[in-house]
Amino acid sequence: MLKRIAIIPGDGIGIEVTREAVRILDTLRAKHALPLELVTFDWGAEKYLREGVSLPAGALEMLGREFDAILIGALGDPRVPSNQHAVDILLGIRFGLDLYVNQRPIKLFDARHCPLKSRTEREVNFVIFRENTEGSYVRLGGSFKLGSEDEVAIQEDVNTRRGVERILVYAFEHARRHRLKKLCMSDKSNALPFGHGLWQRVFREVRERYPEIQSRHLYVDTLAMEMIRDPSQFDVIVTCNMFGDILSDLGAQLVGGLGLTPSANIHPGRTSMFEPVHGSAPNIAGRNLANPMAAILTTAMMLNHLGFAEVANRLESTVREAIRRDMTTPDLGGSLGTREVGEWICTLL
Ligand code: NAD
Ligand code: IPM
Ligand code: MN
Repeated sequence: MLKRIAIIPGDGIGIEVTREAVRILDTLRAKHALPLELVTFDWGAEKYLREGVSLPAGALEMLGREFDAILIGALGDPRVPSNQHAVDILLGIRFGLDLYVNQRPIKLFDARHCPLKSRTEREVNFVIFRENTEGSYVRLGGSFKLGSEDEVAIQEDVNTRRGVERILVYAFEHARRHRLKKLCMSDKSNALPFGHGLWQRVFREVRERYPEIQSRHLYVDTLAMEMIRDPSQFDVIVTCNMFGDILSDLGAQLVGGLGLTPSANIHPGRTSMFEPVHGSAPNIAGRNLANPMAAILTTAMMLNHLGFAEVANRLESTVREAIRRDMTTPDLGGSLGTREVGEWICTLL
């Protein structure tokens, strides 16, 4: 069955890495008869600055109705200091399509790229499930006496029973489906008794339904420390929106950096969105320096989600092979450019 994919390259290196992801998808279509149709949208800073349009009217409904998946590069541009267009497009899609699961695998492909001493690929392999539709990202709040000495800023943190339960259940179900033994829920309930007290209570209920999984709780500060001290103790981590954001960048550094970490934004049964964990990296944009592997691994996650598991596995193995043979960009110590890495992976495929 034909799968329709909306491509949003976005800004900065998002455009460069998405070009390589599309090159891979085109190759898979042409050489392996993968039934895909790609439609590209020019939503991003350029359009916003030119036309004042970020996410066009009706876009969310159109994406949900006409597409099976959305692939995003990255959004963010120094010329838009308010970050308004990125909020509208990126958070707009996450919230608007109710993509409550943000799945961020932390997988070491080559032990040489782990900054910890003597860690093997088997020891650094876990997945972070980040709640993706609530928390301090809901944009509830306001300013009072703005700009004065007495200024007050309020940014609310929203946690609902329904929202907490569905991400916890998704994480436990993932562990069960993949026979993963260890699950860690992380919050800051010692300091945030209302919002994260709810996480505690729902966690105690949900874990009862999964007796075969060793589940435990760590405060997020301790978890950050434990992720570095001994990452082998984790299979599945589940946490709130903000902590998941921070922990996924921390985790990225365990496996070679943001150039290697993909993510999926999922609502089971609906149009889901796929993006690398990294941003638009204005400091290296436009110089053919960005590592396209995070975007390519993101493409593999998307293909897997769309039911092309075998092709997805092959794509992931090809990236692993490129890393092993140092066919990499400078962030991994290689001497290739963004385009050359993409071409190499395509050729091997
Ligand atoms: P960033 O992830 O863009 O960059 C952080 C650091 O990692 C930089 O040094 C960058 O050069 C490096 N890096 C990131 N991706 C890389 C890659 N593929 N290859 C090699 N090096 C890479 O984070 P930032 O600098 O804090 O943010 C820049 C902009 O991106 C901001 O506007 C931010 O809001 C936005 N952002 C967007 C997303 C997204 O669209 N999903 C995610 C994170 C940040
Ligand atoms: C990410 C990014 C976004 C987030 C920003 C750009 C709003 O950091 O996807 O990790 O915080 O979710
Ligand atoms: Mn982030």
